[in-house]
Amino acid sequence: MRHVLEIDDLSEAELAEILDLASERSPQAVLAGKGVALIFEKPSNRTRNACEMAVVALGGHPVVMRGDDIGLGERETVEDVTRVLARYHALVCARVFEHRHLEAMAAVGEVPVVNLLSERSHPTQAIADLLTLRSRWGSLAGRKVAWVGDGNNVARSLVLACSMVGVDVALACPAGFELDPVAVEAAKARGISVEETTLPSDAVPGADAVCTDVWVSMGQESDGSRRVEAFSGFCVTEDLMEKAAPGAVFMHCLPAHRGLEVEASVIDGPRSAVWDQSENRMHAARALFQWIARA
Ligand code: CP
Ligand code: NVA
Repeated sequence: MRHVLEIDDLSEAELAEILDLASERSPQAVLAGKGVALIFEKPSNRTRNACEMAVVALGGHPVVMRGDDIGLGERETVEDVTRVLARYHALVCARVFEHRHLEAMAAVGEVPVVNLLSERSHPTQAIADLLTLRSRWGSLAGRKVAWVGDGNNVARSLVLACSMVGVDVALACPAGFELDPVAVEAAKARGISVEETTLPSDAVPGADAVCTDVWVSMGQESDGSRRVEAFSGFCVTEDLMEKAAPGAVFMHCLPAHRGLEVEASVIDGPRSAVWDQSENRMHAARALFQWIARA
């Protein structure tokens, strides 16, 4: 039984296999007659729709639950919720406020568990991001990705994913909002270069993709004004994109805030890959579920 709570729960070979599976548009109905539980303690547009459609494409039946429906860890223990869901479903996927709840679900050991975003990581986004970059570039190894903004859950999974496919990374984060050094060291240990700076203009030269995310993640709303102030100067502008490699793409997992982390003309312009990224969430989820169902 395999769980995917972070992208490096997969081996490099398994990630490559999933990226290849994601390109198959006529998958076998490996979930025929089976259910998939999709728990969302936080809002979602892309992840929910991508996962529901992915389950349907594999012949399965998705059951979406909001956090309030099941009261993870409050109405029932996380373990009891998981044991019950394991009796109905082939997979339990969850977007949670506390990553440790995913670990508790996995520890039950009765059903594979997939992380649909926690405060720590967003592995299904990272698979979609690699898929998007691979389709733009043809191959991944030897390229460079710049991350401009918060060293957050999306950054963590993306950097680890890049390290698994030989893509170098440059991180520009404000002081106090850097990526967890453990993730940086894990990425470097796979042999890629990870540059760290507090200046976006130092990170983007030579980058084939410039990626960002919101400055205030779900669950951080009470810290919003401090964050917006700290991130001024971290907007991905056309001027910043000009400093990247010729033909560099702009990436954002969405939802986006035009005028804050990205200039409207960048996200809505020809360099933007964000709609392909959103579509690829579905292909990535389908491939991951297919792979887990076979594992
Ligand atoms: N990128 C992403 O996870 O979007 P949602 O929050 O809408 O699912
Ligand atoms: N970092 C963001 C990603 C949203 C998809 C958050 O956690 O809210």
